[in-house]
Amino acid sequence: MMENQPQPGACAPLISSPLPMLLGGRYRLERVLGEGGMGIVYRARDLLHEQFGEPRPLVALKVLGESLAQSQDAHLLLYREFSLTRSLGHARVVRVFSFDVDTASEVAFFTMELMSGATLDQLLLDCPRGVPWQELRRIATGLLDALGYIHRQGVLHGDVKPSNVMLDDDGVRLFDFGLAQALAPPLSGLPALNPQRFTAWTPAYAAPELLDGAPLSASSEVYGAACLVYDLALGRRSTQGARLAPPRQLPRRCWPALKIALNGDPQRRTITLDELQVAMQCEHSVVGRWFAAR
Ligand SMILES: Nc1ncnc2c1ncn2[C@@H]1O[C@H](COP(=O)(O)OP(=O)(O)OP(=O)(O)O)[C@@H](O)[C@H]1O
Ligand SMILES: [Mg+2]
Repeated sequence: MMENQPQPGACAPLISSPLPMLLGGRYRLERVLGEGGMGIVYRARDLLHEQFGEPRPLVALKVLGESLAQSQDAHLLLYREFSLTRSLGHARVVRVFSFDVDTASEVAFFTMELMSGATLDQLLLDCPRGVPWQELRRIATGLLDALGYIHRQGVLHGDVKPSNVMLDDDGVRLFDFGLAQALAPPLSGLPALNPQRFTAWTPAYAAPELLDGAPLSASSEVYGAACLVYDLALGRRSTQGARLAPPRQLPRRCWPALKIALNGDPQRRTITLDELQVAMQCEHSVVGRWFAAR
């Protein structure tokens, strides 16, 4: 039978918070995969599935970080993220499995597929001279594919940035819908985020109008995606004003579209996700490739 008691010491050095090591009577926490401003994500073993012979019993399990977990609407916040993500089904978007509350500790959590690979944050560190165009093209088109899909489902991600995109051999995966918004029923009927959480934008990737209090929009997502592509091309994080010169990695024909997408003025950001997607599919010309290789 499954153990109901945590196994003292089994993975204690890898888990910093005082969470029980067994959640929901079946998920044994093994190690921290990552920690963001909102939550902590663990690798966990699904002991129930394992007991039935599941050869891949590992999942990722997200709980709120300690500061947020204290807030009154903590469980709602996490449920909202789970429910919005669950409504999506796309090869470039993380899949979530189930939401639960551990009765003994009252810790809310949800489980999702365990992604392999590394976040684009890591890629930025690994490629200080910029990501080569063929790879960047694959990342950009995959990300724009994911965003195009979620927008068609009436969902805005709200937090497009390198640490929320995972890259593995199959391509990119968009995750962390903690700031996402649904534009239409039924999902727009989910409890609203409290205003403090709701404006927790990441300044380097948030469109300037969001920082001024404007609502999320498809255009603000275009801006976030464009900043991410620009920074990967450059190989480091840059600030808004610095994103004016074309990175040498980019084919010349790409730059006009990316430049429009990077415009801080939403009135002048006259490009859609689909148009940016088309622009990102272009190849280096033979001459351009020669110059880019130097
Ligand atoms: N399904 C997963 N599989 C593997 N690793 C994951 C998974 N989900 C999240 N991670 C890791 O955990 C980190 C934090 O996750 P996440 O972005 O969901 O937390 P967050 O607190 O909402 O982040 P933010 O600071 O963007 O609000 C990620 O950057 C990633 O490294
Ligand atoms: Mg995140």
